Amino acid sequence: MRILFIGDIVGAPGREILRAELEAARAEHRIDLVIANCENAASGFGITPKLVDELLAAGAEVLSGGNHIYDRREILDYFPSQPRLLRPANFTPGNPGAGLYVGRSKQGTPFALLNLQGRVFMTPNDCPFRAADRELERLAKLGPINGAGPVKIVIVDFHAEATSEKQAMGWYLDGRVSAVIGTHTHVMTADERVLPNGTAYITDVGMTGPHASVIGMEKQAMIKRFLDGMPARFEVGEGDVRMNAVVVDADEDTGLARSIARLSLRLD
Ligand SMILES: [Fe+2]
Ligand SMILES: [Fe+2]
Repeated sequence: MRILFIGDIVGAPGREILRAELEAARAEHRIDLVIANCENAASGFGITPKLVDELLAAGAEVLSGGNHIYDRREILDYFPSQPRLLRPANFTPGNPGAGLYVGRSKQGTPFALLNLQGRVFMTPNDCPFRAADRELERLAKLGPINGAGPVKIVIVDFHAEATSEKQAMGWYLDGRVSAVIGTHTHVMTADERVLPNGTAYITDVGMTGPHASVIGMEKQAMIKRFLDGMPARFEVGEGDVRMNAVVVDADEDTGLARSIARLSLRLD
């Protein structure tokens, strides 16, 4: 099974490149399942119900989140009606939404997406490592999905700041999930590999949006903020729009990865 995992989609430019390039990328790389991180889709901060529908219509099949997932109030009531939209599983219990999606690909293969958030240099939340154990245990008890066998393909979006915490999660879950994909820093790392026990890993998949920016936001305002330290309003940047993603090839019988490759597409 070939999975395309798309890094944080930032604002209108990120949504635009998804509309323009995803279908061709899907065909070229023979993709069976498209997952995207959507926490910055609404002008860089959060996502709205309308934009969830827009990203799903553009070809994303499940959307993961992160620290910005609740930035737009209108998303809170939308969670119960949209299981394909996730927030990290280790947020406070009872918060809107779920951190685990279980479903079937278009070809009928059962899969799961687990969203977790780090604790280093991030707002406090529950332990992501113990949350991973808990969710994987829950998943193991689920059994066949609509008569299609148990879930073997498990993708983890680990939304975290520190490279150390992300690497630790990769090793912690090695052999237990198909892939641990880092998100949140918006800068693609060059360390993609399949770990010894069969889990595909990358510290950060990068950002889908304007790269002539500072992590997606207009660069002059960001520079000014670093110079004067004053509160400022940040707008989405523009120029050099790219889609950062990885393609993970995983064995449907074992759930383990055969390969992981980085992808960076430019808007023509
Ligand atoms: Fe982000
Ligand atoms: Fe984030």
